[in-house]
Amino acid sequence: MSEKGLAAAPRVVHVSAASADYDVTVGAGVLSELGRIARSAAGGARCCVVSETNVAPLYADAAEASLAGAGYSVAERVVFAAGEQSKRLATLGEILEALAERELTRADVVVALGGGVTGDMAGLAAALYLRGVAVVQVPTSLLAMVDSSVGGKTAVDLAAGKNLAGAFWQPAAVVADVRCLASVSPELFRDSCGEVIKHAVLADAALLDELIARPITADQLDEARLADVVARNVAIKRDVVDADERESGVRQTLNLGHTIGHAIEAASDFTLGHGSCVAAGLCMMARASARRGWCSDETAGRVEACVAAHGLPTGSELGADVLMRYMAHDKKRRGDGVNVVVPAEVGRCEVRRVSLDELAELVALGR
Ligand SMILES: NC(=O)c1ccc[n+]([C@@H]2O[C@H](COP(=O)([O-])OP(=O)(O)OC[C@H]3O[C@@H](n4cnc5c(N)ncnc54)[C@H](O)[C@@H]3O)[C@@H](O)[C@H]2O)c1
Ligand SMILES: [Zn+2]
Repeated sequence: MSEKGLAAAPRVVHVSAASADYDVTVGAGVLSELGRIARSAAGGARCCVVSETNVAPLYADAAEASLAGAGYSVAERVVFAAGEQSKRLATLGEILEALAERELTRADVVVALGGGVTGDMAGLAAALYLRGVAVVQVPTSLLAMVDSSVGGKTAVDLAAGKNLAGAFWQPAAVVADVRCLASVSPELFRDSCGEVIKHAVLADAALLDELIARPITADQLDEARLADVVARNVAIKRDVVDADERESGVRQTLNLGHTIGHAIEAASDFTLGHGSCVAAGLCMMARASARRGWCSDETAGRVEACVAAHGLPTGSELGADVLMRYMAHDKKRRGDGVNVVVPAEVGRCEVRRVSLDELAELVALGR
């Protein structure tokens, strides 16, 4: 079998939690399987693709052809302006009105085709429309494939902050075609690697070592390898979300790198990518943890090596005082302590409760 043939063999990650039971199909070319997968997972007679202005021209025709080929009557697609600035109540309202105009019924299916913004917003629209219709997530960005399309969180932003209005709404199926990643900009692809590395540090030491030895890049897309990396990331997120249903709090470990990362992101006025900030926060927390004796220098070194190999920042120029202003602000509502996620070793992380003073020390140690 050729390399390409091997790449085309899809990987299926089964997600089974109290409130959901669905498959995430990952592979090169699986977009052509969308109709068949949607039909067996969600049923329904009609469907409607919700997408945005960058992604729809590239992939909506193929998605709709597959859906029609599986017997769906495909309603006119709903396309909103690409970008985070669209992720708000006004656009959500427009999507809901469009679904109603198309007379979608409770038995019909919404297909969310795009990055994390589309998945979050179309997912929320599906949760609200007629008090809930099935949604099939078709993530097209690396971040959406490894993170936002799994776990059932949907949201829009409010003026007061990101993701402040949302719902848990699990997809009927997720179809992640790594071939779609070929059109993602190299900058966005690199940025999203921050979350991929975070997942490896959380739960897959072998993956971290593979990524150090052979970083994933957008310009030399190896479809089989990408499908493998995406599927392992999905499995990690699945396991963490799943464990959280039994043991409250495990989901917090997904915040690895995010406490400091969010502060760097906010201090940059959101000009720095989220994944880059998470990568920097991850390295700073790893260095601080090594200095505190919570992990070995070798662990911190491996985390930094992987981040550097992907061309992502391993730290921030910002002073600890500047970062603390954002973190103190961020956490005010939750009392005087903060939960930080610490890499105890590669593949195993711990949540520690620290005071704001201790957090300031950690930030200073990690710089
Ligand atoms: N629900 C969750 O659990 C969760 C988790 C993490 C992040 N998120 C959310 O995800 C969003 C970020 O996701 P994102 O980075 O995918 O953002 P995005 O959806 O805005 O996509 C980023 C950019 O890439 C473009 N794009 C996407 N796929 C493409 C493709 N295949 N080819 C060419 N261009 C493509 C988009 O048009 C956009 O310009 C944020 O709003 C964040 O809050 C949600
Ligand atoms: Zn994140």
